Amino acid sequence: MQNIWALQTPAQNLAPLDLSTDVSVTPVAGAMGAYVSGIDVAELDAAGLGDVRSLLHRYKAVMLRGQNPELTYERYADFGRSLGELAVDPYVEPPIPEHPEIMGLVREADDTRYNFGGDWHSDGTYLEQPGGLTVLWGRELPPYGGDTIFSNMELAWEMLSPAFREMLDGRRCLHSATGLGDKKPITRKGDYAAINFGAQREVIEHYHPIRRTHPETGASSLFVNQAYSVQIEGCTEDESAGILGFLFDWAASPALTCRMVWEPNSILIWDNRNTIHYAVGDYGGFRRAMYRLAVKGEAPA
Ligand SMILES: [Fe+2]
Repeated sequence: MQNIWALQTPAQNLAPLDLSTDVSVTPVAGAMGAYVSGIDVAELDAAGLGDVRSLLHRYKAVMLRGQNPELTYERYADFGRSLGELAVDPYVEPPIPEHPEIMGLVREADDTRYNFGGDWHSDGTYLEQPGGLTVLWGRELPPYGGDTIFSNMELAWEMLSPAFREMLDGRRCLHSATGLGDKKPITRKGDYAAINFGAQREVIEHYHPIRRTHPETGASSLFVNQAYSVQIEGCTEDESAGILGFLFDWAASPALTCRMVWEPNSILIWDNRNTIHYAVGDYGGFRRAMYRLAVKGEAPA
């Protein structure tokens, strides 16, 4: 097959961003992503919160560096609530019982299970209302490795040819949780996460439009992902597999991506509506403890 990754994309985010607080912004790559200093999530006023939203609209994934090392779970959850209503994951035991909205993603140094998040995905797209924003606090990090990679799905949509976009536009794709937890024990993902679906055996799946419109900015994005998108509505299985296979490769094109490097006292926020992400599992032998908040989203349209 022809090399589909020889993409030359326009650098995003060239125009200056008008922020009300004194923050320093360092773009991570031409496609998306920024490191931001000068925003303390524990001391955020309305102007600062407005800046966080502007930064998210612009960069899609934003790592807020230099948080107070004394940040508490309480203040962390308060920050999440200031971004929107928080979801509680029904299948994962919360690490801090008094904060069920905080999900623990802890990997021990000797853990050999499959890497949680080690596939291209957007969080929870098998749900009727997938998560809007995800917030991740890196409390204990390996000395190197464990980066989080993103891809800009607005750019992915824009860079497709008009003819191909026309074919996809208005179509829906089925998103399914079949790959998760104990749903599919025959795969190597069978034990990759401490997800307990309990007695509920039915597969969670929903149809979503392939071209998604961002509810706040109105921008279009490609809304399929390798982890959960399984079948394009109206196509045969073979046709769907061919088109989705192409789109999964397309979405992973390096020119669409950025690689966010963790530093101590950082909080990463991303928009699940117009990005996909991949958790790099290259830190075996080190412990890593992350705490995640999920801000509720809407049904994709
Ligand atoms: Fe994820």
